[in-house]
Amino acid sequence: MTGAHVQGAAPSAPRVNPLQRLWLRELGIEKTWLREVAPVASDAALAKAPQAGQGATPAGRADAAPAPVRASAAAAAGADTPAHGVPPTEPPAGDRAARGPGAQAETVPAKPVGAAPSTASEHIKAALAATGRNAAPPPAAAAAPRGPAPYVAETPEAKEARLRQVQTADVETLRGMVTGCEACGLCRGRRNAVFGMGATAPRWMVVGEAPGEQEDRQGLPFVGRSGQLLDAMLASVGMSREQDVFIANVIKCRPPGNRNPTPDEIAACSPYLMRQIALLKPERILVVGRFAAQTLLGTDATIGSLRGRVHHLESDGRQIPVIVSYHPAYLLRSPAEKARSWQDLRLAATLS
Ligand code: URA
Repeated sequence: MTGAHVQGAAPSAPRVNPLQRLWLRELGIEKTWLREVAPVASDAALAKAPQAGQGATPAGRADAAPAPVRASAAAAAGADTPAHGVPPTEPPAGDRAARGPGAQAETVPAKPVGAAPSTASEHIKAALAATGRNAAPPPAAAAAPRGPAPYVAETPEAKEARLRQVQTADVETLRGMVTGCEACGLCRGRRNAVFGMGATAPRWMVVGEAPGEQEDRQGLPFVGRSGQLLDAMLASVGMSREQDVFIANVIKCRPPGNRNPTPDEIAACSPYLMRQIALLKPERILVVGRFAAQTLLGTDATIGSLRGRVHHLESDGRQIPVIVSYHPAYLLRSPAEKARSWQDLRLAATLS
């Protein structure tokens, strides 16, 4: 504190509210600061100042209340940057709204260098400077990493070992591998990998593209609106996912925002589907949607040219008939195509 400022304290002595007092206590400068700078602080307010852990939260404690509570406590205390705290980069949304759109344009008159502090927070900063302590957050806290660690790609050796294990896995081993898979970056954004569900000795397999939001939440395939339509389509030819059909996807984890899977993601994930087909040995496969059809059949032909005929997939020395049809999500958007998808289902159902 400068002597000049102490002498002139009476007119500009800042009011100290209970939370500000707690910061001062936290910083170990409460007595010095109050004695030198704010001898007129309200005794009643100070008497009411809560102790740490008794309701109010000392701002800036890493182990104190969660951030939003700290932010609003700081706002209530009228401080701009709580000492030791992580200053919010933006005011809380409610705060911003309350201040209105013009708030950010507000200009603060420049203060000459070395001018006496006049607000409570300026006094606190000045007191900290005098004690050699820093009001800014410690560098380690500022640099603390947030969110999951960045994805580290599978090494070629790890990939080879994983693919060898896939080739010999039984269904439950394969399920465990899929559930814990980290072979591509999609593992970072998923809630659940979706292995597939259905009959243990299915007559049909239905293969779709990738889990959507609902499937990612529930860990099950086709459980959203397109799943309901798929169940109705299957029921129309006397099939159900409980008794006759196993439903799986080419990609087991949800791509962010339901974007198209990348070639790397397809390459990492499709061996799981191939092993599922080899283990479950379905009599036929109904592939829904362009992406799954192109991946399974190794072609870039359009869905219009792929549907309406029988393809074959070689699996474990067997040729499995494959029927291509529209994705239920597409049918929801284009109901007029349901008649064609009905023809595809009939074709699949009448294959000998
Ligand atoms: N779309 C798909 O392709 N698969 C699902 O599991 C859900 C929606």
